Amino acid sequence: MTRIRKAIFPVAGLGTRFLPATKAMPKEMLTVVDRPLIQHVVDEARQAGIEHFIFVTGRNKNVIEDHFDRQFELEMTLDERGKRNELSALENDLPGAGNTSFTRQQSPLGLGHAVWCARELVGREPFALLLPDVLVQHPRGCLAQMIDAANEIGDKANIIAVEEVPHDRVSSYGVVGVGEAKGKAFAITKMVEKPKPADAPSNLIITGRYILQPEVFDILEKQERGAGGEIQLTDAMLQLMAKQKFYGLKFDGRSFDCGSKIGFLSANVAYALERPDIAPEFRDEIRKLLG
Ligand code: G1P
Repeated sequence: MTRIRKAIFPVAGLGTRFLPATKAMPKEMLTVVDRPLIQHVVDEARQAGIEHFIFVTGRNKNVIEDHFDRQFELEMTLDERGKRNELSALENDLPGAGNTSFTRQQSPLGLGHAVWCARELVGREPFALLLPDVLVQHPRGCLAQMIDAANEIGDKANIIAVEEVPHDRVSSYGVVGVGEAKGKAFAITKMVEKPKPADAPSNLIITGRYILQPEVFDILEKQERGAGGEIQLTDAMLQLMAKQKFYGLKFDGRSFDCGSKIGFLSANVAYALERPDIAPEFRDEIRKLLG
């Protein structure tokens, strides 16, 4: 049984694709319906049984820490006004006291570096990594499916969520090579970060959810800069592949790349259409807009 207790959330990115919205506000606080992106991703991790939530932050990101704290004045006001539903929603959204940690990345050196910054907080145990740009819409979320796969595989496995994209889009992502099937997952034979379509081993891209063994920290410690001049997690995973197994899981559910405007807007529509309290009216509004 693989027990994954800790999850890393790299939230130091600058959010340049959403300027001016993200000039003073972290991109992770942009809302999909009425929850910030980071809350959706933390919800997914909680649903998968994660107990400790590690945020790798940067300057101008303090509001994320505030978001995962109680808001005493607000709670008191809601209580005085008898707003029970709002109050319990606020309380249920929070990981418990002592279950969050925040550390700073200090310099924007890439995803691999962000993950390495969490090494002391994770320690020597397998952990989950969730990129908050990516939302996966599925009743169980993506990480729970990955933990199921990890339990099925059994040995010291690294698992990466993957999905198919059109061939001409692979150069925006990490891409994996496909080996033999193992239950619902498959062995990964190769990994390339942001390849040209001609060099891509497949059209299966890395989706932003990982279960990794702590040995990846030892590799990241010495990792040189790769694609885009950044310390790439994909390069470190590739090295670890020489010693440990990596599996890909094509998860159930629909993913949204909320780092892009189209993905973010689509996520808002898709999540709103799943909400019983607003979906009927929203559907009518969309019909009107589309004429
Ligand atoms: C990162 C990873 C990449 C992955 C992508 C998913 O890239 O390096 O392998 O496919 O997230 O969103 P980034 O989006 O940070 O450029």
